[in-house]
Amino acid sequence: MFHLVTLLLFNFCLISAWSPTDSYAPGEIACPKNYNGVRLADQLSNEESDWIQSRNEITDKNLIEFLNHANMDDFDAENFITGLNRSIKIGLAFSGGGYRAMLCGAGQFSALDNRTRGAWEHGLGGLVQASTYMVGLSGGNWMVGTIAMNNFTHVEKIIEQGTIWDLSSSIINPGGWKIWKTASTFKSIDDDLDDKKDAGFELSLTDFWGRSLSSQFFAGLDDFGAALTWSNLQNADVFTNHEMPFPIVVSLGREPGTLIVSINSTLFEFNPYEMGSWDPTLYQFTPVKYLGTEYNNGNPVNDTCIGGFDNAGFIMGTSSTLFNQFLLQINTTSIASTVKSIITTILKRVSHKEDDIAIYRPNPFYNTSAAIDKISKNDTLFLVDGGEDLQNIPLAPLLQPERDVDVIFAFDNSADTEYSWPNGTSMIATFERQYNRQGVNASMFPYVPDSQSFINLNLTSRPAFFGCDSKNLSTIQAQTHNPTSAFSSPLIVYTANRPFSYSSNTSTFKMSYENGERDAIIQNGFEVASRNNMTLDDEWRACVGCAIIRREQERQGQEQSEQCKQCFAKYCWDGSLDRTSQINANFTDNGSTEGHTKIAIRSLCKNYVIKRACSITMFGNKDTGED
Ligand SMILES: *[C@@H]1O[C@H](CO)[C@@H](O)[C@H](O)[C@H]1NC(C)=O
Ligand SMILES: *[C@@H]1O[C@H](CO)[C@@H](O)[C@H](O)[C@H]1NC(C)=O
Ligand SMILES: *[C@@H]1O[C@H](CO)[C@@H](O)[C@H](O)[C@H]1NC(C)=O
Ligand SMILES: *[C@@H]1O[C@H](CO)[C@@H](O)[C@H](O)[C@H]1NC(C)=O
Ligand SMILES: *[C@@H]1O[C@H](CO)[C@@H](O)[C@H](O)[C@H]1NC(C)=O
Ligand SMILES: *[C@@H]1O[C@H](CO)[C@@H](O)[C@H](O)[C@H]1NC(C)=O
Ligand SMILES: *[C@@H]1O[C@H](CO)[C@@H](O)[C@H](O)[C@H]1NC(C)=O
Ligand SMILES: *[C@@H]1O[C@H](CO)[C@@H](O)[C@H](O)[C@H]1NC(C)=O
Ligand SMILES: *[C@@H]1O[C@H](CO)[C@@H](O)[C@H](O)[C@H]1NC(C)=O
Ligand SMILES: *[C@@H]1O[C@H](CO)[C@@H](O)[C@H](O)[C@H]1NC(C)=O
Ligand SMILES: *[C@@H]1O[C@H](CO)[C@@H](O)[C@H](O)[C@H]1NC(C)=O
Ligand SMILES: *[C@@H]1O[C@H](CO)[C@@H](O)[C@H](O)[C@H]1NC(C)=O
Repeated sequence: MFHLVTLLLFNFCLISAWSPTDSYAPGEIACPKNYNGVRLADQLSNEESDWIQSRNEITDKNLIEFLNHANMDDFDAENFITGLNRSIKIGLAFSGGGYRAMLCGAGQFSALDNRTRGAWEHGLGGLVQASTYMVGLSGGNWMVGTIAMNNFTHVEKIIEQGTIWDLSSSIINPGGWKIWKTASTFKSIDDDLDDKKDAGFELSLTDFWGRSLSSQFFAGLDDFGAALTWSNLQNADVFTNHEMPFPIVVSLGREPGTLIVSINSTLFEFNPYEMGSWDPTLYQFTPVKYLGTEYNNGNPVNDTCIGGFDNAGFIMGTSSTLFNQFLLQINTTSIASTVKSIITTILKRVSHKEDDIAIYRPNPFYNTSAAIDKISKNDTLFLVDGGEDLQNIPLAPLLQPERDVDVIFAFDNSADTEYSWPNGTSMIATFERQYNRQGVNASMFPYVPDSQSFINLNLTSRPAFFGCDSKNLSTIQAQTHNPTSAFSSPLIVYTANRPFSYSSNTSTFKMSYENGERDAIIQNGFEVASRNNMTLDDEWRACVGCAIIRREQERQGQEQSEQCKQCFAKYCWDGSLDRTSQINANFTDNGSTEGHTKIAIRSLCKNYVIKRACSITMFGNKDTGED
């Protein structure tokens, strides 16, 4: 009888994928039978590897279509792909950088997505359909998370429907001039947080932040997705039928009041099944669906687990905590005092207000032996924005040899330079990490130049390939003693934000966008990923094809076609450096030149109290005094 009840309860949980309380409050559900709360990160989860096997059938088919359409010389896509005893795996990675990164990333994604009008004709349409993974960080996680969690919607549909991604009012004043709308949004956030607190869970500013973000990303759902969980994906048709890439978002471990750098950070990922880290400081995963459950040494303390803690907006807020302090700015705005007082009430409930931190309590990794003391000895797990260790492009999940990725399309929408364009800093941080303890479990990462050379050699003004010849990794292998094969080190197709039809270098801390500006940045992103709609290189699609198949060709000892050799001559970084210090900031169609047009950068550090964020140079928000 007892078993029957457990079984029924368990089945019920599987069916009702939304929060068990149907609200923001986590609630009790039965733990699965013989439940292990954590596992070592020594392989993919069974769920992921099963899922990927089915996804492979779809990506194989779509990749053949993409490659057939790419006009590659001397290459028979069907023969090549069907002749393999494995599947080629493509990973897409979208960097952080606030709404700018979300919108640039959306444009880049749309150029790769066959559902976008024109993507097949003058973009890389079909690549999303042929990709295995899509990863987002901070602003990039807003894009990836919005698309994944809204039943794998697509960018054009979002814009046309107009329900979500309305950024015309700042998040601290969601109703704009409609005060009542702002008041009702905050009132429902207040109720949600109340629910979670009453259920016995500690609140952090990230709860407030995640709920606020949800009002933009899940605007069409009841109480903007208060009951929508991240693990909900496991039950979504678009996921169970493997039509979307496997989504992952990242964040970092960091204690309140401390700073982190890439070489020591513990990098967490959230995927539809699990959260945890491949890094040696944790090297464990826990099912994301049962976050909030109290464990000791990986075992639940009793038969009752918790569900609904993994609220989708909360997880997307966790990857982007750098921005949560905006909510503290309320008194500097001219919002009605009724709204101010609701917000002040909410703020009174949260712990660590002063910190850009998300609180995960109970800590699922409590008293586990694999984790370092900082993680295992504390009943709370503290997580922060994925970009705070300078690795602003979320490459790490795609560099795990278990994931067996052939090529990563790395979209860099960081603001590194004085004018808020990328300069490769994020790639450098990931390159350097492999020389430290935290990098030992990842595949090798290819050589990249210094940031001045990135700019001077036009590696940020048009797409650039890194790791073109896996033989060049042997020196890295000798230095790092990396045990993985060089073939398992993905080739990187790096594409940085740059202007074509629009100057898309808006400040990371710009918190509202008129629809016209939003759409212009998205269009520019399309152009960035497609070499200005193929006008700058009508063989761009073929060159992308050459990059996708290269690792597998190397495995098989195959030579490249003449066409692919030319593509590689054009797009691969050739190992040279140019450290001359002129500022190459004037973009031409094909590169960049000395001198720059003055583009006003809104100065934010001055206006907002985001001091820590402003000290993180990657966000490039130098106080220029311009506005
Ligand atoms: C797959 O094929 C390659 C040659 O193309 C071979 O070296 C490898 O052993 C094969 N792997 C399996 C698991 O059959
Ligand atoms: C590039 O293609 C996109 C999508 O089809 C379109 O919206 C945009 O106007 C095109 N840009 C140019 C410069 O033609
Ligand atoms: C993409 O769309 C085009 C035209 O709509 C179609 O012919 C093609 O088969 C599609 N390819 C993929 C990979 O979905
Ligand atoms: C996804 O689609 C299903 C079935 O149409 C619907 O019930 C559900 O509410 C949708 N989920 C989201 C997050 O929109
Ligand atoms: C990184 O961790 C090591 C070992 O714990 C420590 O010695 C070093 O100071 C840390 N580095 C930084 C920059 O925090
Ligand atoms: C199980 O443990 C949790 C966490 O300590 C506690 O809140 C809950 O009341 C316990 N449930 C039962 C049925 O003992
Ligand atoms: C806003 O001002 C009120 C009144 O001075 C104060 O009580 C409240 O704590 C302030 N809120 C914030 C977030 O600073
Ligand atoms: C940690 O786990 C071990 C092994 O299960 C157990 O013996 C010990 O009591 C636990 N320590 C704490 C503080 O809970
Ligand atoms: C957990 O970490 C917090 C923040 O660093 C610290 O204040 C607290 O004392 C730690 N708790 C334990 C039990 O170590
Ligand atoms: C970079 O682009 C500029 C402008 O198009 C061009 O003059 C220069 O030769 C290019 N540099 C390299 C190394 O390709
Ligand atoms: C920079 O570009 C502008 C046009 O966008 C041009 O007028 C100016 O001469 C360029 N400056 C340099 C130094 O090339
Ligand atoms: C590149 O960006 C970093 C910050 O992300 C900055 O510290 C560095 O000075 C920049 N380098 C160049 C050459 O612009």
